Amino acid sequence: MKIATEAVQIGLEWDTRTGAVTVPIYQTATFRHPGLGQSTGYDYSRSCNPTRQSLEDGIARLDGAARGFAYSSGMAAITNLLLLFKSGDHLIVTEDLYGGTCRLFDKIFIQYGLSFSYVDTTNTEAIRAAICPSTKAVFVETLTNPLLKFADLPAISALCKENNLLLIADNTFLTPYLLRPLDLGTDIAVYSATKYLAGHNDTVAGLVTVKDPDLAEQVYFHQNSVGAVLGPQDSWLTIRGIKTLAIRMDRQQQNAGRIAEWLSAHPRITKVYYPGLENHPDHALMARDARGFCAMISFEVDKHELVEQILLKTKLISFAESLGGVESLITFPEVQTHADIPPELRARLGINNLLLRLSVGIEDCDDLIEDLRQALEA
Ligand SMILES: Cc1ncc(COP(=O)(O)O)c(C=O)c1O
Repeated sequence: MKIATEAVQIGLEWDTRTGAVTVPIYQTATFRHPGLGQSTGYDYSRSCNPTRQSLEDGIARLDGAARGFAYSSGMAAITNLLLLFKSGDHLIVTEDLYGGTCRLFDKIFIQYGLSFSYVDTTNTEAIRAAICPSTKAVFVETLTNPLLKFADLPAISALCKENNLLLIADNTFLTPYLLRPLDLGTDIAVYSATKYLAGHNDTVAGLVTVKDPDLAEQVYFHQNSVGAVLGPQDSWLTIRGIKTLAIRMDRQQQNAGRIAEWLSAHPRITKVYYPGLENHPDHALMARDARGFCAMISFEVDKHELVEQILLKTKLISFAESLGGVESLITFPEVQTHADIPPELRARLGINNLLLRLSVGIEDCDDLIEDLRQALEA
């Protein structure tokens, strides 16, 4: 079954009693036991809740995984994955990383004895060079935030297998619709479902998919032990979002392609990062492995004053953090999403005071271009 169809099917089979076409919201903390030592399979909602389970089974099917897990946020999901490691373990991480993930690693998990090396994970040889005896895993963003670099997952996976390392991919920007990391040799995929999966800028959620059933059992043990699970209402909203993932993504990408071309031709824009453009360094690799180029664009303006002008003067495009929803959003990574990246690293990567990040929504593209034009030329 194709992903667009599979996505619509989530929850459809659930309620055999009434035939409801969407999974009910099981707003219950606990479940009655039929007898002593007996269970319906549901005992307590932290351990398992039917609405959450429907989402977890659904994302597992979309990613071709043994199991899926839903958490209260993307950060909660990543935190749970770090519990697979112990003091003394070393992880190799994408250097161009979401600032919140970097903060979690460098300000919190470092206190528990984990260590992290930040490398350009589009360069497999740089990963190889960073491997040391205590290295246990490689953590990559499949399409990086905010510079939109694309990782060569088959090559990284081969390197990980050779060195007995776990490969974890944050696939937030691409979603299973554009790329299935587990098919390309990744052990675990993680999502901020807040973004494209839920897709409406109305829910904060995290998802994880795991290929190997034994590893999945460990992840479940941590999910249940820590308890940062997604509630039934938000699980339902995430399922509802996923049902329209394919058509939203198609429209958003179509808009993004046109906007990237338009920005590239504008005299006040000096750089455009969009992997759908043929001049993007990872364009060919992404065309090989992914089904599309996503709908995120980062771009540089010619003067810093223009940053504030654009943020304040766009009317349809909201100046707000987050991404991937139906509404277009624009943000200034240096002081917002990526403020927690060390300044030297930010400067080296090109996350500077001229860079803006645009999440293109499903609006009519002519209106979005007009909004950008009037803000740029005000
Ligand atoms: C790539 C990526 N991973 C993880 C996260 C964290 O997800 P959440 O905000 O749902 O906790 C984000 C948030 O922006 C992100 O962009």
